[in-house]
Amino acid sequence: MRTGIRQVSVVVGLCALALALVLSACGGSGGSTTTSSTTAEKPEAESIPPEGTSTEAESESKPASFTGEEPSAEWPSVGGDVGGTRYSTAEQITPENVGELKLAYAAPLDPKGTKSGSGGENNPIESEGVIYAASSSANPTVGAYEATTGKQLWQTTSVDMGISPLEKATGTRGMAIGEGLLYVEMPGGYLVGLDQKTGKLEWKTLINTQKVFQYSQPTPVYWDGLVYIGQSGSDIIGGLRGFVKAVDAKTGKVAWTFSTLPKVGTPGAKTWDSKKELTDGGGGVWTNPVIDPKLGLAYFPTGNPWPDIGGRGPGDDDYMDGVVALDMKTGKLKWFYQTTHHDEWDYDCAQPPVLWEHEVEGQQVKGLSVGCKNGYVYELDRETGEPVTPVKEEELSNAKSDPKAKAEDEKLGWVKQNGEPLTEPIPVDAGEVVPHCASKNLLPPEAPDGKGFEYACAYMYFGKDHYTAGWNGTSLDWPPSSYDPTTGYTYYCANVGIHAAKLKGFGVKQTSEIETFPQLYANGEGEGATEPRQGWVTALNVEDNKVAWQVKDKSGTECAGGSATSAGGVVFVPDSTGVLHAYDASTGKEVWSYEHGSLSIDAPPIVYENEGKEYVAIAATLEGQAALLGFALGAEEPAPLTTPVKGAGASGGEEVFTSNCGSCHTLAAAGTTGQVGPNLDELKPDEKTVQTQVETGGDKMPSFKGKLSPAEIKSVATFVSKSAGKE
Ligand code: HEC
Repeated sequence: MRTGIRQVSVVVGLCALALALVLSACGGSGGSTTTSSTTAEKPEAESIPPEGTSTEAESESKPASFTGEEPSAEWPSVGGDVGGTRYSTAEQITPENVGELKLAYAAPLDPKGTKSGSGGENNPIESEGVIYAASSSANPTVGAYEATTGKQLWQTTSVDMGISPLEKATGTRGMAIGEGLLYVEMPGGYLVGLDQKTGKLEWKTLINTQKVFQYSQPTPVYWDGLVYIGQSGSDIIGGLRGFVKAVDAKTGKVAWTFSTLPKVGTPGAKTWDSKKELTDGGGGVWTNPVIDPKLGLAYFPTGNPWPDIGGRGPGDDDYMDGVVALDMKTGKLKWFYQTTHHDEWDYDCAQPPVLWEHEVEGQQVKGLSVGCKNGYVYELDRETGEPVTPVKEEELSNAKSDPKAKAEDEKLGWVKQNGEPLTEPIPVDAGEVVPHCASKNLLPPEAPDGKGFEYACAYMYFGKDHYTAGWNGTSLDWPPSSYDPTTGYTYYCANVGIHAAKLKGFGVKQTSEIETFPQLYANGEGEGATEPRQGWVTALNVEDNKVAWQVKDKSGTECAGGSATSAGGVVFVPDSTGVLHAYDASTGKEVWSYEHGSLSIDAPPIVYENEGKEYVAIAATLEGQAALLGFALGAEEPAPLTTPVKGAGASGGEEVFTSNCGSCHTLAAAGTTGQVGPNLDELKPDEKTVQTQVETGGDKMPSFKGKLSPAEIKSVATFVSKSAGKE
């Protein structure tokens, strides 16, 4: 019952009340950088076992780390349960009392003395009174923390695990536990098994054997002796032969591999134009799989083919842009559902699917919802992969209005293998979690070529003499969605992000979108756009895939991190300005928010109950440091929250640089060795160049406008221009 409020018998112990001091003073066991060999003591006496477990008969034989088949009041798997509902049965926090939700702890996620860091996109997990979380800092750190206080139990860094600091650190999105071990993918693509109690390295397996660049390490999920993980990559730099693996949880030995880019001679290979394409055609997996143990299936969301746009001959390109359902024990393909055939728009399915059971048109359905970067949500029967709400194959949105563009693109291979026009699976009358079509108010009045736009919808041919708008490629991205079985709603965190592009090199065999497609990442950032890029939080009713409620952020604020829901009837979703919001799960009414001047959040929230109290926790970057924040009702909010503004002055610039730029750029003064972009010590850009580049982004470099404050952009520009070329 969502209104039930339990007796709270335990007063939360706070390890530090003065937040200004928290990051240095709240280090728990002495802030030691490595505890690999030391045994972390269990936190003070009565904190374990958590309330409730003693009454459950199977709790003796089954530690909590084996749970996760159903939603619970713990969060033992990245998606809460292995089905990825991100729903907690904790019911204390309700729309009525959420106003009393206060910061209870802020634990540093990096070893004491770390100059700067980032909580990144890390999704913590919680089990038996312990939270496990990671930082996305230069030397990423994994740690265990008391669930009621945030007190550190152990920490171990990538370097402690014997991973070279030169390995590319792109940030992990989450981890798994099982068999007494903690599983997480570290820089360079090493999946490690750490002792859950001490952090000691038990095994290390190289998953990223092709050593492709990953924007983020994918997330493992544990079930019944195996750890399931994908391989990310394939954007921009390319070269990936995509796959997913199951690894023996005890030893790290690979149990099976399924190729998301089919091997030559296998059935999926026929959907590609040439053997050459099967050597580096992409198919990265950006997040975690979800699992239905009863059906024995693991469901992985799959990424786009490579090159992202152009350069491939006709063909649907299996198993790109969809969901593969695999036999958990053998890795054999049970079914594949493709949400974009022959992707020319970078419309991958980056977020994990969500499993649910609900009535649809009078039938009880074992459903699976997946949101993809085409901006659509698909509802499938997870036993068969068939849509449960209608989907129709349709020609591209401007096929009729722009026959010239169509003809031009068809010459480049944008057709079916039998030569017929491309069609794409469009959910019929589905709710819009983001706009599916471009409109005038989303774009500047003029394209960069001084002409007007052709307005289209998701899936369009690009002409070569005009910009076509309607490409919403960054709208429904990796941030995970959630499902509340009591409302029957799935919750999405998405962004209005309409782009426009025109085809430049007509007839040229393209090697990458970058060279041949001048893009306008309007995102509402273009001058004159009246409705700048903004986040939409949407509840879709699984019964009909239509909008139950929708909340639009104020312009310029994006949705970030994804959602988590709870039996108390509250949905938690952060935004790009570092505010954590709570919405009434039934109505969408905003019922609470938390903000703090120097906080930024890119990670998904989790909800759990420990010692009779419900908590909401999230990884964040607080005052330039990676921190785990925990909130509880009536917590004694740490005293003064006033701290220096992050990013002010040249030293702030260094912090901004290491957290945001170092993974791609080498700069000796910041000690970074990234190699995706130019070596800034050699380039020695002036301040204006850096500022412009950071604000607008480049072909391959993201724009930081909206992500960094103007003060941070200024300070990073000052820092780079002053320090480039110097040690
Ligand atoms: C995902 C990788 C990536 C990240 C993160 C990144 N860059 Fe870049 N950067 C690039 C690439 C690639 C280029 C070169 C081509 C281009 O414009 O895309 C570049 C180019 C540049 C240039 C050269 C501009 C010129 O006109 O020559 C500067 C300066 C720069 N980046 C600064 C930064 C700063 C400062 C940050 C952090 C706020 C940052 N970059 C973050 C990839 C990245």
